[in-house]
Formats: sequence, structure tokens, C-alpha cells
Amino acid sequence: MSVLEVSDLSIRFGGLQALLDVTFKVDEYEIVGLIGPNGAGKTTAFNCITGFYRPDRGHVFYRGQDVTGMPPHRKSAMGFGRTFQNVGMVKSSTVIENLKTAQHASADYGVVSGLVGTGGVRETERRLEQRSDALLELLGLTDVRDSYVGGLPYGTLKLLELGCALATQPDILLLDEPSSGMGPEESHDLGDRLIELRREFDLTMLLIEHHVPLVTRVCDYVYVLNFGQLLAEGAPSVIQTHPEVVAAYLGGEAADALEQTSAPAEEAALAAEEHEAAGYVRERAPAQKKSPVKKVAKKTTKTAKATAKKATAKKAVAAETAAEES
Ligand SMILES: Nc1ncnc2c1ncn2[C@@H]1O[C@H](COP(=O)(O)OP(=O)(O)OP(=O)(O)O)[C@@H](O)[C@H]1O
Ligand SMILES: [Mg+2]
Repeated sequence: MSVLEVSDLSIRFGGLQALLDVTFKVDEYEIVGLIGPNGAGKTTAFNCITGFYRPDRGHVFYRGQDVTGMPPHRKSAMGFGRTFQNVGMVKSSTVIENLKTAQHASADYGVVSGLVGTGGVRETERRLEQRSDALLELLGLTDVRDSYVGGLPYGTLKLLELGCALATQPDILLLDEPSSGMGPEESHDLGDRLIELRREFDLTMLLIEHHVPLVTRVCDYVYVLNFGQLLAEGAPSVIQTHPEVVAAYLGGEAADALEQTSAPAEEAALAAEEHEAAGYVRERAPAQKKSPVKKVAKKTTKTAKATAKKATAKKAVAAETAAEES
């Protein structure tokens, strides 16, 4: 069973058919790319998946459950984490305050206890702060921990937004252009980070991205949208040279991005090694077909292993934080 499956997703804004019969899936532990020229409907698809828009037609399934009409806050509680194309952060607060705020849905005290400030509240606040610090370290943002968000560069804000989404402990993470505002080196580092985060938190990801080298390096599978419809799908290497995809990009504003698609062979080999090390099998059944039984059995074993690994990783973070404090 896929973590996320959308079928025949369609939405119209007045005279504009923004999405038409879009069908795709994201399997457990995959990083799937959603690419396409400007205005193709990528963010609209995210809005339909996360519940900000209600599609006119079609369905959204989360681990087999139909969640099409469910509002964003309920989807978030279920395990959907999301970052936005335009960063949404409290600019007058510090980095750590923003991260703590992002976690407050998991704070186990009510408004009144919060105002009074009981011992339980202080304990929960300490726990949230520890988790925030661990996330900052993981994202390489410890240096800006107490800086006000308003003064930070855009690339740093995108990373912090990723941290805020992670703070909600998502099962599937939807990232809308995480590398925007980053230079080539920063976005290369972001690729490393995404692969590391997947391993650390056993995450499944859906990634909207214009920076093609990043897509080819981290994505296991890619879907291409054009004028609201699915134009192509396949492994990144197949998509890169797909004639219709190339034509769609050259017709749009992303020609520059496409020129960078010929990632050096060394980089491609490294990416392949990363995938293998992460235990991911690159072959994938077409989106419409059901996964073969063998693959499902393998995934079930992997999920059990992943749960055990997650517990170990959490313990390690807790031990590290305790050691730092003493
Ligand atoms: N709320 C809305 N009302 C009217 N039109 C909308 C709305 N949201 C999106 N659109 C239109 O739908 C189309 C798809 O927009 P969308 O933002 O999904 O594109 P995108 O693929 O994310 O593009 P980009 O790469 O530029 O972010 C665009 O023509 C956009 O103007
Ligand atoms: Mg967009």
C-alpha cells in the first residue's frame, strides 16, 4: 500500500483547468519528485493533497484511507508535514521560538495551565526546547538559534521551515521548492540533508523542485506536470532525456534549469550508492498498477525494521541532549 496516492485529481479556477485527472503515488520511504514548468499545477496539487483546496473531482488516499475532504489540521495530525513555496514564519520571533511554536500541537497541556505556568508546563517546554535544539543541529542551524527570523537570508529560512515541518513529526513530508533562494553549493548540501533526514526519521517525501540537479540526485521517481496534466513519469535519468519533458521546459521559463540536467557521472554514481546504502530498491511498478506481492512483503519487513531503527535514533538524540546538558 502506498503512503500517498492521488487519483484523477481535478480542479478548475474559473476558466482555468489547473489540474486534470492527475494520478500518482508515493510509496514508503521514497523521495518522489513533482516537476514541471511555472504554472503547471504543482503547488495546486499540494494544496489539494493537504486539504487547503478541495478538488472538484478525484481522490487523495493516505495509507489506503480516503482523506480527500479532510481539513489541513487533521491531515497534519495524521502525519502530513508540509513546507510552503513562500516561507510562512513568525518574523518577529527567534529561530528557536519558531521551532517550539511548530511543536505546540504535541504539547500536552491546555491554555490555562500554559498561562499559570505549572511544573508540568515547564517540563513540557524543556522537552520541546531539547527537540528543537536537536533539529537545529541536524539542519546545521545551531549558529542562528537565537537570531530573529526577520534578519535571516531566504535560503536559511527555507531550511528553518523544513525544521518546523519536521518538528511536527510527519510521516510524509511535502516540500515546495525547498532549494529556492539557495546557491548551487547550498542546494547540493540540501540534497545530502534530505537523504540523511529520510534515513534518520524513516520519512517518505514528495518534492516540488525546479533545481533539476537536486531532483536527479535525491529522487527515486519523478512525475512531470504540464498545463495541469501528467506529461511523463519515470526514473530521474529517464525523465531528463524524455523528449516531451525537454520540449515543455524549453517552452517555459525553466530552460536554464534544464541545461544543468547533465549531472556529472561521478555525482550520479554517488547518488546510486546512497540509494543502495539506504536500502532502497530503485525499480518501481507503474503508478496505476498494484505492487507485486513480493514487494509488499519486503516493505512490511522494512517497516518493522524502520520502527526499531526510529526508536534507536530517538534514544540516541535523547542521550546526546542529556550528555550535553550535564
Ligand atoms: N487560488 C487560485 N485561484 C485562481 N487561480 C489559481 C489559484 N491557485 C493557482 N491558480 C492558477 O493555477 C495555475 C497553477 O498554479 P500553481 O501555483 O499550482 O503552479 P506551479 O506549478 O506551482 O507553478 P510555479 O512553478 O510557478 O510555482 C496557475 O495558472 C495559477 O495562476
Ligand atoms: Mg508553485
